[in-house]
Amino acid sequence: MARGKLILIEGLDRTGKSTQTEKLVKSLGDNALLVKFPERSTQIGGLIDQYLTNPEFLLPDQAIHLLFSANRWEIAESMKRSLLKGQHVVMDRYVYSGVAYSAAKDTKGMDLNWCLQPDKGLLKPDLTLFLTNSDSELRQGFGEERYECTDFQDKVRGQFAAIFDTLEDPDYKSKHIKFLDTTHKTIEEVHQLVRAVTSDYIQGHADVNEFIYF
Ligand code: TMP
Ligand code: MG
Repeated sequence: MARGKLILIEGLDRTGKSTQTEKLVKSLGDNALLVKFPERSTQIGGLIDQYLTNPEFLLPDQAIHLLFSANRWEIAESMKRSLLKGQHVVMDRYVYSGVAYSAAKDTKGMDLNWCLQPDKGLLKPDLTLFLTNSDSELRQGFGEERYECTDFQDKVRGQFAAIFDTLEDPDYKSKHIKFLDTTHKTIEEVHQLVRAVTSDYIQGHADVNEFIYF
């Protein structure tokens, strides 16, 4: 039986990732599963949630980085089992967020390469849809969590660009990563785009069964 595809929707805060992952999973029907990172319901996820929501809950930048990665590792095996059963797994954030948000802190020694190391060996997405949006109203109205402010988001944007321009393998990038500009588009218009790109990919790669790894 053909394995399912690992599909990732990535981007900055407030680019519509959660809405679009939910809509994509629904449109793929019974055969798809939604996985959101961070997954806050696990023990490690509980620590991450405290770190994000409580400004007094302090952790060294290296420690919280490793927790975000550990949170992916604790779900890695069950994701692989679902894929092997033929289910598509749609993720809301994954390794690229892990690397970009931590590298944006400019902490000594925590460059892109350092940040990627703990995720080495995780499954690599078959298809990443990176959502960008330059609607000016998105620059206001961030929530209350750590990282949700314009200055930091600008730094994260720079790190995402550096990942895709310098860290990621160009051959992998050209085959497996698509950039979707959602500026001035409605939720439904973006969904139709996401759906079209995803269906094309799934149909075009139906017989590819080997996994790719970070
Ligand atoms: P969320 O808003 O998608 O729930 O993510 C919470 C925050 O965590 C968001 O600002 C991005 C950040 N983040 C990291 O810093 N590292 C990671 O590995 C992940 C998955 C998210
Ligand atoms: Mg958020």
